[in-house]
Amino acid sequence: MNPTPHIKTEGTSKFQIGEIINNTVQYDFEKIKTYLNIKGHILFGKNFKLYKEDEPLLFKLCCYFIQDHYSCAQMGIDTNKGILLSGPIGCGKTSLMKLLPHLAPHKTNYEMVPTRNIVFNFNASGFEVLEKYNDNKNYCFDDLGVEPTGCHYTTECNVLGEILLSRYDLFTRHPQLDWGSHKTNFRIKTHITTNLNAHELEKRYGNRVRSRLREMMNVISFDKNSKDKRK
Ligand SMILES: Nc1ncnc2c1ncn2[C@@H]1O[C@H](COP(=O)(O)OP(=O)(O)OP(=O)(O)O)[C@@H](O)[C@H]1O
Ligand SMILES: [Mg+2]
Repeated sequence: MNPTPHIKTEGTSKFQIGEIINNTVQYDFEKIKTYLNIKGHILFGKNFKLYKEDEPLLFKLCCYFIQDHYSCAQMGIDTNKGILLSGPIGCGKTSLMKLLPHLAPHKTNYEMVPTRNIVFNFNASGFEVLEKYNDNKNYCFDDLGVEPTGCHYTTECNVLGEILLSRYDLFTRHPQLDWGSHKTNFRIKTHITTNLNAHELEKRYGNRVRSRLREMMNVISFDKNSKDKRK
């Protein structure tokens, strides 16, 4: 276990994003922003910066990623669920979901998978691809809604719809699972980034999926007027 989770090391530099008080890390949002700006530069290039207008959303996400149960509860965020991050094209959803796990990887981590890749794999290999995501790992399905309908030979399949139904079954399994020699209390989480709103998600994946997404994830949305950071 990392004895100094509040100190982030990048190359030869160290960044303190909080203090340890009574054996728990008290994170400092101002210091977190400084670190994220620097980590964002490293990951995405020198044009990366945190935008002032995104700050309320960023605060919510940071509280979730550091698993600050108290602040999350105050904002109506359930730390046991995943995140469904929605917003207009280019507002920075994918970047944030790649950046934020660096804050506290011991608390929030997942494999990021573009939904288009999943469908391309399904088209090539068939139903075994659905099984791959029916496991104990956490995933973030990136850009839900842009993927084409799956088609393996002549069989069509709503690939992500099927995967999300089985992820729901994993999520609702009793959270106390044997993990090696000791029991831990955790849930298998699924996260999503998408341009679609609730209505569009329902249209694309059906109301069974829509209803399950609501139970599995906290919906956090960029403002619909957020600008495209690609421009
Ligand atoms: N905070 C930021 N500062 C500067 N550039 C950013 C920022 N966030 C994202 N970008 C850049 O803007 C572009 C779009 O970002 P990103 O892919 O994260 O958006 P998105 O919301 O996932 O878009 P899409 O809806 O198309 O999937 C990328 O080139 C990314 O590097
Ligand atoms: Mg994206």
